Amino acid sequence: MDAGLRRTLIGVALLGTAACAPSSVSVPDPVELTGPRTWYGSVAPLVAARCAICHRADDIGPFPLETLEDVQPRLPMIRSAVAANRMPPFPPEQSAASGCPKISDVRQMTEAERAYLLAWIDEGAPVGDKRELPRPRPNKPLGDPTDRWTMTRPYASTIQQGDDYRCFLVQPNLLTAIPVGAVSVEPGNRAIVHHSAVYLVPPSEVARIKAMDAADDGDGYRCFGGVGVEIAFPAGLWVPGNDAPLVPPHPGVGYFLPVGWAFVLQQHYNYTGPAQTDQSSIVLWRSQAFPTEIPHSVLIGDLTLSLPPMSMQTVEAVGSVVARGSIPALNVGTEGRIYAVWGHMHLLGRSLEMDLVRADGTEQKLLHIPKWSFHWQSLYRLEEMIVAKAGDKIRVRCRYENSSAQTVSYGEGTADEMCFGAVAMLDP
Ligand code: HEC
Repeated sequence: MDAGLRRTLIGVALLGTAACAPSSVSVPDPVELTGPRTWYGSVAPLVAARCAICHRADDIGPFPLETLEDVQPRLPMIRSAVAANRMPPFPPEQSAASGCPKISDVRQMTEAERAYLLAWIDEGAPVGDKRELPRPRPNKPLGDPTDRWTMTRPYASTIQQGDDYRCFLVQPNLLTAIPVGAVSVEPGNRAIVHHSAVYLVPPSEVARIKAMDAADDGDGYRCFGGVGVEIAFPAGLWVPGNDAPLVPPHPGVGYFLPVGWAFVLQQHYNYTGPAQTDQSSIVLWRSQAFPTEIPHSVLIGDLTLSLPPMSMQTVEAVGSVVARGSIPALNVGTEGRIYAVWGHMHLLGRSLEMDLVRADGTEQKLLHIPKWSFHWQSLYRLEEMIVAKAGDKIRVRCRYENSSAQTVSYGEGTADEMCFGAVAMLDP
């Protein structure tokens, strides 16, 4: 089997284990939209919950939106960004009319919240009676992590501006296997870490990773669509604005991390100013109960895609849902209850759709990203699980625009493309 295919298959087999599970604890805190529509009356907590999670000192947002003084001079640009749905950056379609399942994510702004903020600006952004504002609650559904492993040294990028995709080996050096409930990342420098993914690799791959690291100047090695080895399991993801780990649906969902295994931390740095350093940590929450249920996933994709120069093209891949006991492979997975969805393309992607096509011909939307943005991709947790039965199909449609003079084909590099969708499930 093609090395890349095998890696991806095995990788996604564990997608759901720690990385994406539904839980009521991560639903966006409802923001109180009553009371006088003034900054102190009700707008400040809304901006704190939906904007300041990224727009604060030393975070990824290019300016802070923490205080009235931060907000007042920027009202026209705030109005335009919020009205056009550019901010908060959350690409999945969620309008009531779309038929898309509701996603639980703190980075999302409801239509009511959007309308409320716009109305406040249109009313002249009244300030109201000054009062002490409550501090936003930290988003820590599992409390503090039980384990933390930090990059050995601060990494200083040699890329002065733009994007730097870099992988680092982080060895936990376990003496005994540990039960894992969730894995995430604590970014060292929030101003430049655009997203972080954690992969688990078996001892057999560690030497290869060390060789790639040694062959590349500076700490770590360059990586983009994967981590460059045959067997790597995605185990956790961190995205700006959402610090909560993706909590298992119940305490019995999890897995054991064996002795000798290592982490690869895949960092996407985005620099707009002068070069900076970062020293991030992988954080882990041990499961509170003995893990008895390992989630499974279905990966749907096209490994033969080829995009001719100067073309718009839609690539379609269809996966089959089969009965339990069958062996999963690319485009084949066993039935269950879908609780998280994921779609992936690289830089030429324009839109992505994933639908469940039931055996009776009816269709259920799973994910629709009308304006694909490589910078704002994530795993999305559904508020309610969707049942996929044997005989159903999962269809993924990826739309691309290749305006270059070269044919672009499948691969891991920045100049290659991918079309993948995946769902994570619990057993029926
Ligand atoms: C998940 C992180 C995140 C959240 C949440 C967020 N922003 Fe942003 N914002 C950014 C980043 C990063 C940029 C820089 C441009 C880019 O990468 O899209 C930006 C740019 C902007 C800009 C200038 C560019 C433009 O598109 O007009 C405005 C205005 C803005 N944000 C307002 C807001 C407001 C208002 C909110 C809350 C309603 C908000 N943002 C929520 C991360 C965020």
